[in-house]
Amino acid sequence: MTRVAVVGVGLMGRNHVRVYSEMPNVELAAIVDENPALASPLSDLYRIPLYKDYRKMVEEIKPDAVSVAVPTEFHYEVVKGLLEMGCNVLVEKPIAATLDQAWELLNLADRYNRILTVGHIERFNPAIIELKRRLDSGELGQVFQVHARRVGPFPTRIQDVGVIKDLAIHDLDIMHYLTGSYVDRVYAEAKSTIHQKCEDIFVGTLHFMDNTIGLLEINWLTPTKIRELYVTGDRGMYRVNYITQDLCFFENAEFDNSEWSPLNLIRGVSEGAIIQYAVKKKEPLRNELDTFIGHLQGKANRLVSGLDATQALQVAMALVESASTSKTVEVNSHEIYRIPSIVPTQSRVSESIGKLSEAANFQTGD
Ligand SMILES: NC(=O)c1ccc[n+]([C@@H]2O[C@H](COP(=O)([O-])OP(=O)(O)OC[C@H]3O[C@@H](n4cnc5c(N)ncnc54)[C@H](O)[C@@H]3O)[C@@H](O)[C@H]2O)c1
Repeated sequence: MTRVAVVGVGLMGRNHVRVYSEMPNVELAAIVDENPALASPLSDLYRIPLYKDYRKMVEEIKPDAVSVAVPTEFHYEVVKGLLEMGCNVLVEKPIAATLDQAWELLNLADRYNRILTVGHIERFNPAIIELKRRLDSGELGQVFQVHARRVGPFPTRIQDVGVIKDLAIHDLDIMHYLTGSYVDRVYAEAKSTIHQKCEDIFVGTLHFMDNTIGLLEINWLTPTKIRELYVTGDRGMYRVNYITQDLCFFENAEFDNSEWSPLNLIRGVSEGAIIQYAVKKKEPLRNELDTFIGHLQGKANRLVSGLDATQALQVAMALVESASTSKTVEVNSHEIYRIPSIVPTQSRVSESIGKLSEAANFQTGD
């Protein structure tokens, strides 16, 4: 039995509470929130103790694992405290509000030999799991472009970050996860329309080291919620609907599937069959928390590594910089895996727990 606690039980944290409460081999031991008026009904519903201060909760409850779902600006402070007190942590995305904070958290997880994984939930969406399997098998051929649309209404509660760090971070992680490539150049246009401090509408372009082009269209100003991803390549285009977990393939009828042929280069593109794959649906958060808890219980589950989450944040920060300077910004996100002070420490963590040997490759809603 793994004893878990959830710190921050607002919109997202209460979903962690619900899902943990449904999992076998998990004891939901406590919740923590600074706002007792909001959290008390949850504490009553699940009959679990409520704390205002996570430090007191850890001293008394001694959880094996903690989900952190406080607003992004407080991730660093809370995760740091939990790691120092010996907890394994799953923190909601983004890993932290700044890159320096993210680095420090990675180093703390290493120093205290604790798991630090990040809630990049879209990796656990069944449609993405199926798409990743198909891309890895080479079904699409060369990937030309990845395009994400993540638009919807304005969430008034989010005051600390803009759409780039809050929403685009999902797509930055997924684009890296699916292509296996790293962004080396970005350009962004963004505006703050309703949000008091940060951008609430943004479009961005990414250039990946393998020449894939990335396109992001993200906002909090569209009166309907759309969460889509398009991946275009040699043999056609995949479309993912994150909300319905549907995966479709639009075939390029001109592509000769039988064998590689120079003719493929000159035939062009035309409409072919449209296939909707049967994807077995499951709540992504359940997949994510099953993976986290399973890992802690000794299963060889692939976690989202802190390094992956940090490189997604690095690209997000470059997009913010580009939007504010109106300039193209160069990024060396692949270098993150080579920075000596981090990479050896992460790999020591991997060795010590014996399961994260491929940590840098391990990946994955708003
Ligand atoms: N993975 C996803 O799809 C997804 C979706 C929504 C939000 N999130 C992430 O979850 C996090 C929380 O977002 P939200 O929308 O639930 O926010 P929210 O404002 O609804 O809830 C945050 C809660 O944290 C509490 N809190 C703040 N500081 C605290 C502290 N130091 N100790 C204890 N409690 C504290 C607040 O009282 C509040 O109840 C953010 O990082 C956000 O990016 C992820």
